[in-house]
Amino acid sequence: AVQLRGRDFIGLVDYAPEEIQYLIELAVELKRKNKAGEAYQPLKGKTLGMIFEKSSTRTRVSFEVGMYQLGGHALFLSKNDLQIGRGESIHDTAQTLSRYLDGIMIRTFAHRTVIELARAATVPVINGLTDLSHPCQALADYQTIYEKKGRLQGLKVAYIGDGNNMVHSLLMGAAKLGVNFAVATPEGYEPDGEVLRQCSESAAKTGATIHVGADPKEAVADADVIYTDVWASMGFEAEQKEREIAFKNYQVNDELVKYAKKDFLFMHCLPAHRGEEVSEGVIDGPNSVIFDQAENRLHAQKAVMAAIL
Ligand code: CP
Ligand code: NVA
Repeated sequence: AVQLRGRDFIGLVDYAPEEIQYLIELAVELKRKNKAGEAYQPLKGKTLGMIFEKSSTRTRVSFEVGMYQLGGHALFLSKNDLQIGRGESIHDTAQTLSRYLDGIMIRTFAHRTVIELARAATVPVINGLTDLSHPCQALADYQTIYEKKGRLQGLKVAYIGDGNNMVHSLLMGAAKLGVNFAVATPEGYEPDGEVLRQCSESAAKTGATIHVGADPKEAVADADVIYTDVWASMGFEAEQKEREIAFKNYQVNDELVKYAKKDFLFMHCLPAHRGEEVSEGVIDGPNSVIFDQAENRLHAQKAVMAAIL
């Protein structure tokens, strides 16, 4: 049986395919319990600290509500209020918080901040988004695809847009779960080379294919899922204007989705910029599952917390 107690959840790269599958199955089961009104409170008396150095709607609310539903308590810790904001080190913060808490979730800029925090902490650390990755979102997204399509292996996901944190985690999930993945980004905005190398390694074991190119139509051809994300992520707002120019042929719209399978799912982690990376017609259309994804953040993260805390 899969045993994850005490583990960090920093990247899907650290998790074996069967561990990710286990978390997805657990998320589906916790969702069923939740809908049926069955209480499941394995984390009574436990606490999760949530450090936010960037804004959040979904991550904050889903972790806080999820922890409450599991019988525990979550604390919202904004960077502006913590002593981190005045220069206390990540190391001392991690050591201190570990004396009070049973787990720490952090949303920050540099990925190495999470690594440093996890190294110094004596409790499990969860990555709530960095500039490099967003594994909680990817886990919820594969849960969503699994629920909608009944399987994962052999499906094709197309990602159109910026080679950012979101595509890194989706790629890693695909590689581990045997999902075929095609990326189309403008030149200069490709996914990180080291992440692609790690993904290829996992993909070789599961049989997933990974294709990175610049042509959105080619990526979307015959796809079961079309995914996009904002062109300028948090921390990159100053590049908004130049990115609008670089990405102008990368909008997911009615013209582009014609190349996908008829029953394709449209996905977006949110928040979205309607009329930029996606047309209103597509994001609000019948193939869009954006709010199922948002909902599944709750269930997927409850699975992670129940498993590791
Ligand atoms: N998708 C996501 O992580 O949303 P928030 O930034 O609102 O948490
Ligand atoms: N790529 C986006 C995801 C937000 C959930 C960002 O980092 O801003």
